[in-house]
Amino acid sequence: MPGSAIYPRLFGSVDGLIAALEMRDTHTRAHCDRSVRLATELGNTCGIVDSELDALRVSARFHDIGKIGVPDAILLKPGRLNSEEWTVMQSHSESSERIIQAAALPDHEVIADVIRHHHESFDGSGYPDGLAGGNIPLLSRILLIVDAYDAMSAMRPYHPARSHKDIMAILNSESSRKFDPEVFHTFSRLIEHSPARVH
Ligand SMILES: [Fe+2]
Repeated sequence: MPGSAIYPRLFGSVDGLIAALEMRDTHTRAHCDRSVRLATELGNTCGIVDSELDALRVSARFHDIGKIGVPDAILLKPGRLNSEEWTVMQSHSESSERIIQAAALPDHEVIADVIRHHHESFDGSGYPDGLAGGNIPLLSRILLIVDAYDAMSAMRPYHPARSHKDIMAILNSESSRKFDPEVFHTFSRLIEHSPARVH
């Protein structure tokens, strides 16, 4: 991403892991790229400063890298995960955090923290720490919305690709429980005119 000091260096050290993950889950690369574009748009609209935008972009790129440690039988399972499998799947946010910490890059502590909390819910029902409201890093709250939109827009082993209208209906129904209402309101307005909006 132009203008970022962190990005090129991180690409060199961690992108190999993305390529390895992509060999198992072909959705990963396109998902990461779209998440970065949407996160940048939403971060800009939310007034995030440049240094935080860098951290947000890196987080959007690598937040799911820990899925490299999730077995295929779970990662690619077409049906619903049972509770044991779900626990393994949930471990990916902490695995991603550890990988970013090991990369020892500038701002890696901030990025690792954003990634650790990218599945926390606004009402405290998320994971891994059950943080709620403003205790969840703002960049994680942004990433959660972007990630949810993008994930539903693509066909996955466990669901078909959904239309923009359907995605927004689902996100709206979850907004007060899962998402920061202010950030979600901002996202709802910007996505209508975004190049990343699906049909
Ligand atoms: Fe994730």
